[in-house]
Amino acid sequence: MADDMIIAPSILASDFSRLADEVSAVDRAGADWIHLDVMDGHFVPNLTFGPPVIKALRHVTDKLFDAHLMVSNPDALLDAYADAGAEIITVHAEACPHLDRTLSRIRELGCKAGVSLNPHTPADVLCHVLDRLDLILVMTVNPGFGGQAFIPAMIDKIATLKDMIGARDITIEVDGGITTETAGAVFAAGATALVAGSAIFKGDGEDGYRANIEAIRAAARD
Ligand code: DX5
Ligand code: ZN
Repeated sequence: MADDMIIAPSILASDFSRLADEVSAVDRAGADWIHLDVMDGHFVPNLTFGPPVIKALRHVTDKLFDAHLMVSNPDALLDAYADAGAEIITVHAEACPHLDRTLSRIRELGCKAGVSLNPHTPADVLCHVLDRLDLILVMTVNPGFGGQAFIPAMIDKIATLKDMIGARDITIEVDGGITTETAGAVFAAGATALVAGSAIFKGDGEDGYRANIEAIRAAARD
């Protein structure tokens, strides 16, 4: 799953009062994955949605559900996210004292296993779990809110992770501040899955979302 460029709109930046319509619009507009930002008001200072909302949205689109769990105790609800229809479940390394076990459990549930790293967390926390991983999500902002500025120091981390991964089939995803200005640098460093919230949903409906997705894709390839 590591090769093609993936654009994953984050519905955090969508209109929550029309969530199903927004997911459907961004699906038709060319999203590859739907990025689902789960926040618990504890690991991050913000609160969003959980398994029941994800399950409800599962009927709206066939696109892959990329669940990013910004929660303190992800182990408690892994089964519920898998049951809700998440295909990738990404936990934060900072929230998992038994990361090896958590990743194994995600795969046992039939999902792809992802780990996210906050900006200050070094790449090498993952060096002994690479064989348990399908995806590494490099936070390019401090998690919790959309619309923040990209942290340039993360470019080096992406490159370090790319070297660490070697020939393994592991996708590097980036999340936070991804725009037409920053997409080129992260893609060149080795990230192939690009999450974008405000840069996509700033558009007006399906046509605006399509233009924004295509602009990010083109900027990444430039
Ligand atoms: C931040 C979330 C991101 C966020 C990105 O905690 O994980 O997915 O929605 O938003 P933008 O693209 O606006 O930075
Ligand atoms: Zn996210």
